Amino acid sequence: MTDDGWLTEEVLRAYAAAPDPRLRELLAALIRHLHAFATETALTHREWLAGLEFLTAVGQMCDERRQEFVLLSDVLGLSAQVDHVNAAEGATEPTVLGPFYRPGAPHRPLGAHIGRPEDGAPTLIKGRVTDTGGQPIAGATLDVWQCSANGLYDTQDPQQPSFNLRGVFTTGPDGGYEFRTVRPVSYPIPVDGPVGALLRASARHNWRASHVHAIVSAAGFEPVTTHIFDTDNEYLRSDAVFGVRESLIARFRPAGAADPDDVSFVAAADFVLAPAR
Ligand SMILES: [Fe+2]
Repeated sequence: MTDDGWLTEEVLRAYAAAPDPRLRELLAALIRHLHAFATETALTHREWLAGLEFLTAVGQMCDERRQEFVLLSDVLGLSAQVDHVNAAEGATEPTVLGPFYRPGAPHRPLGAHIGRPEDGAPTLIKGRVTDTGGQPIAGATLDVWQCSANGLYDTQDPQQPSFNLRGVFTTGPDGGYEFRTVRPVSYPIPVDGPVGALLRASARHNWRASHVHAIVSAAGFEPVTTHIFDTDNEYLRSDAVFGVRESLIARFRPAGAADPDDVSFVAAADFVLAPAR
């Protein structure tokens, strides 16, 4: 049977009176794209049902500690696409928040170590926070978090103290910051649920390029949720959640004579914030 689009038009009309204009716009686009998907692929009843069963399984995998829908959005690149659509002009590129952020990390003095010796190779990360005109932003905060040498975040690992490898730092008068952490390692995203089945069916691996997370914010500016990636990592070109941006890759160089003697690596990462919208 040919499809001249009359059904899509009828469904669109049925939702055209939604009072909220943004809801109306989102529903109309969703209906158009869903109908076009079914038409383009000549979707069979069996495939349609398999899709619904898959989404049901994704929902059933979710609880307070596990958000399989976020994972699904991540591996389909939708999370990264939403980041991209909302990126502020001239500011540091945003990338995925991921499922491991915890609000309420302790404020720590500049230079403090957010982890323990057993978490990995001690590393100094430092840089500046500026506005899009290059002016330093004093009093900006960096909320940073990462996993330990075993690839696990504190929330996944009962051996780590609460808020291990997490901390909030405030920039000085020159917009500068520095903190000690460990050199990040790659870690696998969970594949014991329906998203894992999707990755296997697609012959995709489940590894994330090694990274340190950061949310950088300051009064009067758009906050940015981003990563610092390590240039020396085998998954930089195939990150499981499409989070890598060229501008976010930093070199973790071996510490030299001019560096503090308690660190093995030093990385520089500057952040640029755009004015609040
Ligand atoms: Fe992460």
